[in-house]
Amino acid sequence: MKKAIYPGSFDPPTLGHLDIIRRAADIFDDLTVGVLDNRAKTPLFSVEERVNILKELTKDMPNVKVESFSGLLVDYAKANGYHVSVRGLRAITDFEYELQIAQTNKMLSGGELDTIFLTTDVEYSYLSSSGVKEIASFGGDISHCVPEFEIEMIYAKYGK
Ligand code: PNS
Repeated sequence: MKKAIYPGSFDPPTLGHLDIIRRAADIFDDLTVGVLDNRAKTPLFSVEERVNILKELTKDMPNVKVESFSGLLVDYAKANGYHVSVRGLRAITDFEYELQIAQTNKMLSGGELDTIFLTTDVEYSYLSSSGVKEIASFGGDISHCVPEFEIEMIYAKYGK
């Protein structure tokens, strides 16, 4: 059984995240989307909201589950038997940051947690959660950035 975790903030989930989830779910038998509950940050959506959005987005994917985690990814991975972390790469600028996280996790886990990168579909290579939030905060069009059912939820956060 090949299992993996796809960790992230997902605040909010974008079409790019969804594309990575679908493709990773084709590769792994059991994929967990791990939503970071980072108490040091104030997210737009609470961790419960993000988990529920991702559950809705993945309801047609039987081998995908969505859970939240806090603390170190390596600790969560060890406790739940994950040896592979999946991350998406949009551009070379992502690579430096992601390589550092991947190598840190490899070190912290005593070599037990590997990271596999999926390159983001070019259609979504410009997308980021922070970009979506900025556009939405000004009432701009986010329909090409996030799944349709999220649009009103995001605008509502900004009173739009
Ligand atoms: O969607 P993001 O914000 O780019 O995801 C970053 C994430 C959640 C993968 C990363 O911040 C993470 O794993 N945080 C948990 C804390 C941790 O394990 N830190 C050590 C690795 S630098």
